[in-house]
Amino acid sequence: MKIVALVSLTTILVVASFATLGFASDPSPLQDFCVAVNDAKSAVFVNGKVCKDPNMVVAEDFFLSGLNKLGNTSNPLGSRVTPVNVNQLPGLNTLGISAVRIDYALNGLNPPHTHPRATEILVVLEGTLYVGFVTSNPANPALKNKLFTKYLYPGDVFVFPEGLIHFQFNAGKTNAVAFAGLSSQNPGVITIANAVFGSDPSINPAVLTKAFQVEKNVIDYLQAQFWWNID
Ligand SMILES: *[C@@H]1O[C@H](CO)[C@@H](O)[C@H](O)[C@H]1NC(C)=O
Repeated sequence: MKIVALVSLTTILVVASFATLGFASDPSPLQDFCVAVNDAKSAVFVNGKVCKDPNMVVAEDFFLSGLNKLGNTSNPLGSRVTPVNVNQLPGLNTLGISAVRIDYALNGLNPPHTHPRATEILVVLEGTLYVGFVTSNPANPALKNKLFTKYLYPGDVFVFPEGLIHFQFNAGKTNAVAFAGLSSQNPGVITIANAVFGSDPSINPAVLTKAFQVEKNVIDYLQAQFWWNID
């Protein structure tokens, strides 16, 4: 009896602690922003997408095909991300998960970028990738902007922690293919060069010359480039 009582007490404590956690904060955002409106009729998203009537849901809502197809890598970066997030697969809404296929031509690069809402776990199917991520600016100086890199071969798995700047480069002599899972229905992508030098409108060069500690002509040059957007 005592054991049963102890188990019940433990259960109550565990449930209570989860309940406390549950109420401790709002759910994570599922999109860049969600400006509140009072009129429900003009609402577009509810921290994600609005839900389909469950009676109308069909198997196709949870299905997508075509991820066996090679992505088109004919672009300045020589890579192509084929996304499978809530925009392509509506059944992912509110589930906190998505996927991508990434193709890399010879010397192809998935350039330094971050996913503001997702950790990414990458699996190499073909080829050789040189991958890496950089830590943020924490109080611990030993970890300040520390770079972690690895060469990956078929069957290798690597994880890019949420929000950190990361990249993959085809360092082999063949095309490369990888698949990745991401811990958001809408991970988002911020490509560093595009966001900084290709914003619309442009960031005032005075800001960037100071930030990058270079002459203005370097910034002018970079801002004049065409920055190809990965997905
Ligand atoms: C690949 O993309 C390039 C550049 O956008 C385009 O010219 C070409 O037709 C595409 N190839 C295929 C097979 O879709």
